[in-house]
Amino acid sequence: MSVQIDMRVVNLRKRFMRRDVLRGINLDFASGKITVVLGASGCGKSVLLKHLVGLMRPDRGEVWFGTTRIDKLQERELGIVRRQIGFLFQQSALFDSMTVRENIAFPLREHGVNDEKIIAERVERVLNLVGLDETIEQMPAELSGGQRKRVALARAVVLEPRIVLYDEPTTGLDPIRSEVINQLILKLSNKLGITSIVVTHDLVSAYRIADHLVLLHDGKVILQGNAEEFQSTTDPIARQFLRGELGMDELARIQGNWDDGAQPSP
Ligand SMILES: Nc1ncnc2c1ncn2[C@@H]1O[C@H](COP(=O)(O)OP(=O)(O)O)[C@@H](O)[C@H]1O
Ligand SMILES: [Mg+2]
Repeated sequence: MSVQIDMRVVNLRKRFMRRDVLRGINLDFASGKITVVLGASGCGKSVLLKHLVGLMRPDRGEVWFGTTRIDKLQERELGIVRRQIGFLFQQSALFDSMTVRENIAFPLREHGVNDEKIIAERVERVLNLVGLDETIEQMPAELSGGQRKRVALARAVVLEPRIVLYDEPTTGLDPIRSEVINQLILKLSNKLGITSIVVTHDLVSAYRIADHLVLLHDGKVILQGNAEEFQSTTDPIARQFLRGELGMDELARIQGNWDDGAQPSP
């Protein structure tokens, strides 16, 4: 049985100033599965996600949403695609001056839903999904960091997207709050059949939720597979990243040396 692919990038390249960030990325994101993209800080994970929703345009290569190539679409056509993609930004980015209810209702109103009864129902349903019914009339400032993430997640799924993109969903959260977010990602995937693309440098979370893992390094995919395949890899760079033997600064330094043409020490 062949796997259905919801999103695909083909030979994706992106450079800023003099820095090649993505150097030919090829990836398939399977329908209904959780794909986790790992990599050190600054390696281009957020840049990759932004290409998937057309917030950035590639220098070369293709981005596909189902059977639609989206990297050359006009803004208006992109809007139709974006309606089917939920995006949980790294900074939860709630509107400070709006209640939780109005924050979550915002994408509905923006996409032309104006029946107040339907809006109330949808908002209450997704807020219940993330376990925060009681916060509905509160302001974002009254919530904890973990709660804000969950409200942002409710907002990301209120249009019932086929795909949800998560940018560092557990970064900055303590282990207990991280686990709440992991559980929610699993629940949305399993119960609603949502295709999930998660970028993170949190290995614990990655192993916890992933159906498929991808490791980016130096602008390329250096490893992909399931958790067992990751744990048994013999690739030295991948092993260093996965064991956390190197701090992120050190990894960046090694990468910098390569950029200068030098070889890493064994
Ligand atoms: N809009 C931009 N303009 C210039 N450089 C950018 C831009 N966005 C990202 N970069 C650079 O691209 C690299 C990868 O960034 P990013 O994708 O945010 O990394 P991360 O893997 O931590 O999410 C960084 O060096 C960053 O400075
Ligand atoms: Mg990032």
